[in-house]
Amino acid sequence: MALPRHVAIIMDGNGRWAQQRGLPRPAGHKAGVAPVRLCIEQCGRRRIEALTLFAFSSENWARPTEEVSSLMGLFLDALDREVDDLHANGVRLRFIGERQALSVRLQSRIAAVEQRTGQNTGLQLQIAVSYGGRWDILGAVRTVAARCASGELRPADITDEVFAAGLSLAGLPDPDLFIRTGGERRISNFLLWNLAYTELYFTDQLWPDFDAAGFDAALQYFAERNRRFGLTGEQAGTSA
Ligand code: IPE
Ligand code: IPE
Ligand code: MG
Repeated sequence: MALPRHVAIIMDGNGRWAQQRGLPRPAGHKAGVAPVRLCIEQCGRRRIEALTLFAFSSENWARPTEEVSSLMGLFLDALDREVDDLHANGVRLRFIGERQALSVRLQSRIAAVEQRTGQNTGLQLQIAVSYGGRWDILGAVRTVAARCASGELRPADITDEVFAAGLSLAGLPDPDLFIRTGGERRISNFLLWNLAYTELYFTDQLWPDFDAAGFDAALQYFAERNRRFGLTGEQAGTSA
């Protein structure tokens, strides 16, 4: 069965999961930690190279203050609780997103785990926090613009590769498989550049309910795709 090298997931539906149970929304976020662990394990077991998880978007800052602070608290707790295990399992953990917007405490915890796991060669795990696809693209634009302004680079020399080297996922293959839980069929400002040829899988399952069977179903969907990248089926060596 063909496996993706890189899986990217929008973990959506925590709030509705909580509301359906008459619980406050943060209870849904808390219940969303277990499926994160599960996906990391599933990827590790299958030797999938990279996993990128969307945990908090640029736009999520506009949610009620209590929800934002409970999420930030959850990130801190989960980091503290999980980092030994992740490190023991050879996971390299990195955060992508606008870091300066995070509390100094969270920023320094992030820097510490990135440093600690930086040399690990197992699963390459990215957590997108305070992340937006447009923010990411603008960062890459600023990088190439600065290099052009200094005369180091000519505009004509800006290729896909030169540009993408300034993005958060530089050095990783583009995601092969995108999964969004929670029933919505949109990208919500996730990896706008990198999803150009990604296979998109949507499920109505709410994130706290996402389980091994849900992950398997997404992998099965991926295995059944004919990836043509713009070629004819014949050229791409696929049947259709
Ligand atoms: C995803 O769940 C987690 C974050 C966006 C932080 P939501 O909180 O968006 O859950 P719903 O979509 O309201 O159910
Ligand atoms: C996308 O979910 C962001 C994350 C899961 C972190 P949202 O719940 O914020 O997306 P919209 O608002 O439904 O598009
Ligand atoms: Mg949502």
